[in-house]
Formats: sequence, C-alpha cells, structure tokens
Amino acid sequence: MKGLILSGGKGTRMRPLTYTAAKQLLPVANKPVLFYTIEMMLEAGIRDIGIVVGETKGEIIKAVGNGSRWGIKITYIEQETPAGLAHAVKVSRHFLGDEPFVMLLGDNIIKAGIKDFVEEFVKVKPDALILLSPIKNPERFGVAVIENGKIVRLLEKPFPPPSNLALVGCYIFNKNIFSACSEIKPSQRGELEITDAIQWLIDRGYDVRYHIIKGWWKDTGMADDLLEANRLILEEIEEDIRGEIDDLTKIMGKVKIGIGSKIINSVLRGPLVIGENCMIENSYIGPFTSIGNAVYIKETEIEHSIILDNCKIHLQGRIEDTILGRGVVVRKVDRRPLSYKFIVGDQSIIEVM
Ligand code: DAU
Repeated sequence: MKGLILSGGKGTRMRPLTYTAAKQLLPVANKPVLFYTIEMMLEAGIRDIGIVVGETKGEIIKAVGNGSRWGIKITYIEQETPAGLAHAVKVSRHFLGDEPFVMLLGDNIIKAGIKDFVEEFVKVKPDALILLSPIKNPERFGVAVIENGKIVRLLEKPFPPPSNLALVGCYIFNKNIFSACSEIKPSQRGELEITDAIQWLIDRGYDVRYHIIKGWWKDTGMADDLLEANRLILEEIEEDIRGEIDDLTKIMGKVKIGIGSKIINSVLRGPLVIGENCMIENSYIGPFTSIGNAVYIKETEIEHSIILDNCKIHLQGRIEDTILGRGVVVRKVDRRPLSYKFIVGDQSIIEVM
C-alpha cells in the first residue's frame, strides 16, 4: 500500500512561527512533527510515500530528503494552491494509481500509530476506513455521526457539534475516492473537503467504516496543541545524557541532552530535552520543555515550553507555556527609563506581568 502525507497548506493558525517555517516542521521533543507521520507510516509497513507540498516545498524537501535515512522512497507532489484535502488527493492521482492508499495529515500525531488501522483495512477491504477519536470540543474538526454502528454523516467543523467523535487526520481509501473528489464542490471556506468526499461515498452506498482510536491523538496546528503534544511525547522519553554537566547541577526525572551542550550550576527537572551545543547557566529548566540546538540560557527559569534553535535567553525571570521561534533573543536590561522594548514580527503574542 502507498502512503500520502499532506504537508502543503498555509499554516495561518500557527503564525508568526509559520512565516518562516512550515508548520509540519515545527518540533515536538526536538523532532519535526512531519517525521512522526513518516515514522507512523514506516511502522505500518508503508515504504512508498508521496508528500504533498505547497509554498514551503523547499524547506520540506531539505528537511526530509529522499527518504534514505528511513530506508524508504519519498516522492514529492506539488499542489499549486492549498485548495483543500480532497484537492490534494486529486493532484496525487498519478502517484497513487489504482491501489488503496493511506493518507495522513502532516501535522497529526497519533500515539498508537496506524498499524492496526492499516491491518483492519487489508482484512475487511472497505471503500474507505476513517479514524475517529472521542474528544471534548470536536467543533474544531470534522465530526462524525454514527447510527446503529454505521457512519451516517460527516460534517466539517460544525457548531454545535452533533457528536463528540472527531475525525482524526488519517484515512484509508480505495480508488473510488477519486470519483468523490472530482464530484464535490468547494465548501464555505472555499476548500474541497475530504469530509465532503467521504460523505459523497456514504450517500452513494459505498462501504465506509470507522475505527475508534486508542490513546491520544494531536492535531498540532495550534500553539497550545503543539505544547500539549510536546508534553505527551516527553512523558515517554528515555534518559540520554551526552553533554557535559558540572557538579553543581541537579538533575531529576528523565532528561535528554545532546552532544556539545554544557550545563552549569542549574536544576533540570525532566522530562525534558536539550539539543546539541547549548549553554545553560544558573538556570532552572522544568518539566515538559524542549530546547533546540545552540540555545543559550542564563539566569532564567523555563517550564512547559518549546524553544527553537539559536535562541538567547537571559531574563532573570520565569517563562512558561511559551514557544520561541529560531534565533529569538529575550533579555533583561538595566537602563532608564524602565520600559519594555519589543522588536517582534507580525502576529506575535507577548504577555507581560
Ligand atoms: O486534524 C484533523 C482535521 O484535519 C480533521 O478533523 C478535519 O476533518 C480535516 O479537514 C482537517 O482539518 P484542518 O482544518 O485541521 O486541516 P488543515 O487545513 O490544518 O490541513 C491539514 C494538513 O493538510 C496540514 O498539514 C496542511 C495540509 N494541507 C491542507 C490543505 C488545505 C495540504 O497539504 N493541502 C491543502 O490544500
């Protein structure tokens, strides 16, 4: 079976981080979200993967390459405009051919992976198999209505939601999905929705089944969800310390530290991960924090945060629930008048005490 990962789109909900980076490349526990989707495919035995790319094509190709690092084949499929998930399926027709395929959204992480799901499809051979997850606020997602064990309706971001069953960003289809994607019309948000394409199959009596996932699932398309995915992944890390730690530093819980990093007179309370070539001095790094590569932190407390590469932080204060993009500088200065000074990009969020 081939795999299709959707990694185009605009990433508007993650601005300003996505002004300079594709949202699928934002890191969770220092690994791009997109890599989790590739590894989910791999674990399910899928080794021929197409990745749909849009305006961030260049950096996605640079980060992922030709797949040789995983021993798989990757083909890039260009989608000129992010006209919807069903549109992405249409432009991938040539790559996919007539065999069934599994499609994953490049910003979704599913804890249990997709192996069971793929096996169920191979055994039952329906026209489509979708993944559902019961959640509290499903109105941000596609929502399914089940009656007598069958899916009767799928709605995209309905309010109020008719059930608590959200559509997870993973689907398996046979070739009938191509007719559905060609027949449907753009939705109110102007996109060809995969939800509408699956509804098209249901309305015409095709065999559309569902599978309710076990364990957590995260769409990392919004800042709080990225932090939550980071927390969930860090909960399961294994200790791996390769950097240098001085005698005054205290380490508690599971901590990962990359080569070339130095920790001086600090407290590290895991789970947390620190990348390579960082310098952490007189600081506290708390649980559920991911620090990228070449980050400098002095006299600062950080908890439940994601700090990308090359940041410099010297705050003499505490940071929580924060995402800092690459190369951000946060520092305390001693000068009059006592005022805050900001040089930040569009749509940044700053919260001060
Ligand atoms: O995360 C699950 C949800 O994903 C489902 O519950 C919804 O039914 C489904 O429509 C989708 O909703 P989103 O609004 O979250 O989709 P988003 O625009 O974030 O796109 C998902 C991924 O697909 C993302 O990695 C970008 C990529 N994409 C998106 C569009 C619109 C493309 O590659 N091409 C596109 O045209």
